[in-house]
Amino acid sequence: MAVERTLSIIKPDATARNVTGKINALFEDGGLRIVAQRRVRLTQEQAEKFYAVHAERAFYGELVDYMTSGPVVVQVLEGEGAIARNREIMGATNPANADEGTVRKAFGLNVQENAVHGSDSPENAAIEIAFFFAGCDIVG
Ligand code: CMP
Repeated sequence: MAVERTLSIIKPDATARNVTGKINALFEDGGLRIVAQRRVRLTQEQAEKFYAVHAERAFYGELVDYMTSGPVVVQVLEGEGAIARNREIMGATNPANADEGTVRKAFGLNVQENAVHGSDSPENAAIEIAFFFAGCDIVG
């Protein structure tokens, strides 16, 4: 399997509860390497742009409000099949449906405040990584 990179975001509900390190441990224990990481407070414009694909969804406004409500940790995770692997480690979008041992089962609160975001395809991973990081910020 090829080594890939994926964009991960530890969301405001998780940073508020100070579980960034515990979530990072699940990524690392799951075989992924954190090759870039930055704690930021997203502006409304950044959150709207990042989630523009969901602009027509009923939850878009609430999602933007939530993602700007506190700090997030944006990160690039690297490893074999990192995009799919990270989605396994995160678990289902809705924590109520997430498997035992996943990040969202352990730390997600509900379908919106679900602790983490991860890219869903190689194409989106490339776009999402470039949204937050320059090539020189990523050190594998
Ligand atoms: P994420 O993986 O970041 O992709 C889009 C986000 O929208 C998702 O995680 C949730 O935070 C949020 N989301 C998805 N579905 C719903 C929903 N039905 N209601 C509210 N928020 C949602």
